[in-house]
Amino acid sequence: MTEASSRPGAPPAPPRIAFGGVTKRYPARGGAAGGGQGTLALEALDLHIAPAEIVSIVGPTGCGKSTALNLLAGFEAPSSGTIRVDGRPVTGPGADRGVVFQQASLFPWMTVLQNVVLGVRCRGAAAAEVEPKALRLLEEVGLAGFDRHYPYQLSGGMQQRVQIARALIGEPSILLMDEPFGALDYQTRLLMQKLLLRLWAHFKPTILFITHDVGEAIFISDRVIAMTRRPGRVKCEIRVNAPKPRDYEFMASPEFTSLEAQLVKAVQSEVEGEGAAALP
Ligand SMILES: Nc1ncnc2c1ncn2[C@@H]1O[C@H](COP(=O)(O)OP(=O)(O)OP(=O)(O)O)[C@@H](O)[C@H]1O
Ligand SMILES: [Mg+2]
Repeated sequence: MTEASSRPGAPPAPPRIAFGGVTKRYPARGGAAGGGQGTLALEALDLHIAPAEIVSIVGPTGCGKSTALNLLAGFEAPSSGTIRVDGRPVTGPGADRGVVFQQASLFPWMTVLQNVVLGVRCRGAAAAEVEPKALRLLEEVGLAGFDRHYPYQLSGGMQQRVQIARALIGEPSILLMDEPFGALDYQTRLLMQKLLLRLWAHFKPTILFITHDVGEAIFISDRVIAMTRRPGRVKCEIRVNAPKPRDYEFMASPEFTSLEAQLVKAVQSEVEGEGAAALP
């Protein structure tokens, strides 16, 4: 059912997302005049993701996971190498890539509905066109009847649902999620993981998902990439062949447990290596 490999291989379909030798060095504080080398966050990162594939990235803190996602989102530019979406180089943010962050970055003075439609309204869509669609999406994420609420009236999990609806309303072909469930309690997190798989079955976006939770990564993903400690690159990957949507039985299966052990070992060896390197 499963396979593990120490060498990442490109999936057979032409990639929706392609990182080719991507290196990112953040400048030293104070710029070149500061004299430092800056921070080498990513080094020669190669990663291909097929259309409608769900790929998670796990790895030690500070290894460059968010950097990789921010480069693909177009928030930052690589120092060298290329990132392509459907063969075209990424030059900045675009409606083809929806982003969901760990903290629900909703505007507190706007209602749920206003938050969901804001991005598409800013891109020129008429309210009459997008509001019915937003209401349908809110229903889809389990928030029917909450459209006139304000963010402070919602729980953390509900706010994350709003963020997901906001990311989906522009019909992005790619969903970028940076620890989107990291701040939620365990039970809510499980519900959100199942919700994400349901939404995937409906909209079939390509998903790049970042998490520290190895079990979460296995539960939702077709492939899980473990990164090395900084500068980050692909250490190894595992493929999860269990059919989607998945249920909690999958979490209790020997297949799941075996994949989890492989990934924990891969990440932990990087974390421990880092600790050992820091010793005098
Ligand atoms: N805008 C920035 N300017 C300077 N350095 C940065 C910037 N963003 C990230 N870094 C540095 O790049 C490295 C990688 O950071 P990044 O946020 O990508 O790690 P991460 O893997 O997402 O970590 P975490 O798991 O803690 O979220 C870190 O050393 C961080 O300090
Ligand atoms: Mg991060």
